[in-house]
Amino acid sequence: MAELDWRAIVYPDTEAGSGDAGAAGYGHVRPAGLDTSHGVALYLDDISVSFDGFKALNKLSLTIGVGELRCIIGPNGAGKTTMMDVITGKTRPDEGQAWFGQTIDLLKLREAEVVAAGIGRKFQKPTVFEDLSVQDNLELALKADKRVRGTLRFRLNAEQRDRIEEVLGLIGLHDQAARRAGDLSHGQKQWLEIGMLLMLEPKLLLLDEPVAGMTDFETDRTAELFVSLAGRHTLMVVEHDMEFVRKIAHKVTVLHEGSVLAEGSLEQVQADPRVVEVYLGR
Ligand SMILES: Nc1ncnc2c1ncn2[C@@H]1O[C@H](COP(=O)(O)OP(=O)(O)OP(=O)(O)O)[C@@H](O)[C@H]1O
Ligand SMILES: [Mg+2]
Repeated sequence: MAELDWRAIVYPDTEAGSGDAGAAGYGHVRPAGLDTSHGVALYLDDISVSFDGFKALNKLSLTIGVGELRCIIGPNGAGKTTMMDVITGKTRPDEGQAWFGQTIDLLKLREAEVVAAGIGRKFQKPTVFEDLSVQDNLELALKADKRVRGTLRFRLNAEQRDRIEEVLGLIGLHDQAARRAGDLSHGQKQWLEIGMLLMLEPKLLLLDEPVAGMTDFETDRTAELFVSLAGRHTLMVVEHDMEFVRKIAHKVTVLHEGSVLAEGSLEQVQADPRVVEVYLGR
C-alpha cells in the first residue's frame, strides 16, 4: 500500500508537494482522503496494549460503520479510554491494526495527524477558553487547526462563518454566542467543546463519558444532539449512564478486560449472562 501523503490531507485543494500549499487559496476545513467505500469508518483488529505486563487491551477487535452511533460500555478499567488512546495515537499498541476508512493506517500517524485526518476526541473534562465568548471559542477551534494556521492571514470566509452559525444551532448555544464561556453551566461547556470539535468537521468523533456531571435536562439534550450528528459523522460514545445509552444506542459494544465481551442491541447485551455477571448485575 502506498504511504499516506500527509500533505494531501493538510492541503486537500492543492497538489501535494507543491511546496507553497499553505499559501494557496484556503477553502473549507474538511478532511479529505478518507476512503469509506466499504462502509467502514473504523477497523480495529487484534489490538493489545500492556502496561508493565498488565494487558489493558487484549486482542481487541472492533468495526464501526460509516455514520454509525456506537456506544461502548464496560466496567471501570475495561480499557475503553485506552482504546481511544490507541485510535488517537496517544498510546501505541504492542500488536494489532487500526484503520480509519480503507486506507489510513492510524498506527502510523502522530496525534496531530490523526486530528487532521478527521478524528475528533472529547475528553471528560471540558477544556474551553473560559475568558473568551462562546463564538470566539468556536473561531479559535478553526484558528488552532494546523490546516488554517498555515495560511498567512487568517480571516473567516463566508463558509466558515456559516459553519459557526450552524454549530451554534446544533449545540443549542445560539442565544449564548456572546456569553463568556466561563459563565456557562457544566453541560453547556461540554456542548461548546463538542462544538469546537465540530468546527473541524470530523468524520469520526470519540466521546469519553460526555454526560458525566450533566443535569437530566442537559443529558437529554445531549442525547438529541448525538442522534442528530449520526449519519453525517460516525460517533463512538463511551458512557456509564445506561439511561443515556438507552436513548441513543443502536448497537452497543461491551468491553471487559481489554476485549469485546458482547455486541448487539442494548436489550441483547443486557440479557447476556456474561454481561450481567461482569457489569450490569453489580
Ligand atoms: N498509562 C497507564 N499506565 C499504567 N496503567 C494504565 C495506564 N492507562 C491505563 N492503565 C490501566 O489500564 C486499564 C484500563 O484503563 P482504562 O482507563 O482504559 O479503563 P476504562 O475502561 O476507560 O475505565 P473507566 O470506566 O474507569 O474510565 C486500567 O487497569 C488502568 O489502570
Ligand atoms: Mg475511561
